[in-house]
Amino acid sequence: MNNEAAESGLDIRGGDPRFPAKCSSQSQVAMSQQMMPSDANPLGNVHGGHIMKLIDEAGGLAAMRHARRPVVTVTMDSIAFLSPVRVGHVLTLRASVNWVGKSSIEVGVRVEAENPVTGEITHTNSAYAVFVALDDQAKPCSVPPLALESDDDRRRWAEAEARQQIRLQRARKKVQ
Ligand SMILES: CC(C)(COP(=O)(O)OP(=O)(O)OC[C@H]1O[C@@H](n2cnc3c(N)ncnc32)[C@H](O)[C@@H]1OP(=O)(O)O)[C@@H](O)C(=O)NCCC(=O)NCCS
Repeated sequence: MNNEAAESGLDIRGGDPRFPAKCSSQSQVAMSQQMMPSDANPLGNVHGGHIMKLIDEAGGLAAMRHARRPVVTVTMDSIAFLSPVRVGHVLTLRASVNWVGKSSIEVGVRVEAENPVTGEITHTNSAYAVFVALDDQAKPCSVPPLALESDDDRRRWAEAEARQQIRLQRARKKVQ
């Protein structure tokens, strides 16, 4: 925790200290969309790839709101689909910044499907993706620090930091 953070009582981590820190609530995204036949296979099950695209969009928007810069997706962790999503269901994606590095931002996205007729809601999957903020030359640029407000924020930070270390180890192994 830096001095300013200690004075304000906030736990401020990562990012560039020249920018004011932001809480995850300042960049959170909630996005709802009804699934259409064009999103699905002939049996009416929504394509996993379509859901991944929506995860990328919701996650990218949260990262962009944190950085206030354009972002690109550098990686997305593996995703398991826990229950089928059918045409007509309403998909809701909630994206929240978990961790920030210098230019990178990990966003967690929770996906739920609602049957609008019965009201039943199922947890489809959760996903983690890392985005990189870009400057005007399309090079990675620094992002604001993240202010952690709760024990849940601190747990999410610690888990995201551990995941990011594993991703970077894997990426290093691939180039060796
Ligand atoms: C993402 C990209 C800008 C990174 O450029 P780069 O020159 O490799 O930059 P760096 O090595 O400095 O990495 C930038 C950040 O990404 C992180 N990063 C790089 N590879 C990563 C990986 N496999 N997993 C997680 N984070 C990664 C780095 O740790 C660094 O984070 P930090 O600044 O917080 O420390 C570049 O690889 C790129 O343009 N990729 C294509 C992106 C794209 O087209 N996405 C799909 C469409 S949006």
